[in-house]
Amino acid sequence: MEVLIQSSTAAAVELVAEIIAREVQASPRPVLGLATGRTMESVYARLVKMHHAERLDFSGCRTFNLDEYAGLPGADNHSYRHYMNRLLFHQVNIDLRNTHLPQGDAPDLAAECERYERLIHEAGGIDLQLLGIGQSGHIGFNEPPSEATSRTRLVMLAPETVRQNAPLFGADKMPSQAITMGVGTILASKKCLLLATGESKADIVSRAIEGPVTTAVPASALQLHPHCTVVLDEAAASALTGAPRKRFD
Ligand code: F6R
Repeated sequence: MEVLIQSSTAAAVELVAEIIAREVQASPRPVLGLATGRTMESVYARLVKMHHAERLDFSGCRTFNLDEYAGLPGADNHSYRHYMNRLLFHQVNIDLRNTHLPQGDAPDLAAECERYERLIHEAGGIDLQLLGIGQSGHIGFNEPPSEATSRTRLVMLAPETVRQNAPLFGADKMPSQAITMGVGTILASKKCLLLATGESKADIVSRAIEGPVTTAVPASALQLHPHCTVVLDEAAASALTGAPRKRFD
């Protein structure tokens, strides 16, 4: 695990956007795994800027998002499909048919999970998986306890996650379940890239990076991945004690 600590949130976001841009340019048909959440909003804003200012070309990209709320159709403005269309897909030259999220309102959610795993497999697997981390230690919506071998499935959201995300739903009720890629699905990606910023993530980041690998902190499974990069700002890195850390700027 490579831990890169940046002096500011903006620098951490910039580095993550650059790593993604490099992946986009590395092959004619890259497969990106994408994440949502507040942390990623500025990453997508930066990628959109690179598309306009530097002609970063998304036309060959295929994408798979980590998760989607159960019960929400893509047209719902709280859905992650809506988030991705608004912040990235509608603003760059990606073919929407090559962008995938689990279908939250599929009639048979178990069959939808299997279909999603199959689609990833048929695409040849994920080249680079972007990840955030939740207060509960989740990656995607893999709440504790999540096995390192888990695959795409329907899950209950942890109380911390409901506390973390309910404000985004305003007066609307937040779903209590989601479809998420499993920890095993994530670990099967060729490379993983986790971004965490802000002091509120410091404690869970140190447990994920420096603590034992345990199903109680699903993100700790990333310690098992052969090509995982973690990008942090100083605040998110502030509880680390001795993990191998590299300063970048
Ligand atoms: C969402 C996802 C989640 C978020 C995590 C952090 O697709 O994968 O694991 O990355 O909940 O969310 P923010 O960035 O809002 O703190």
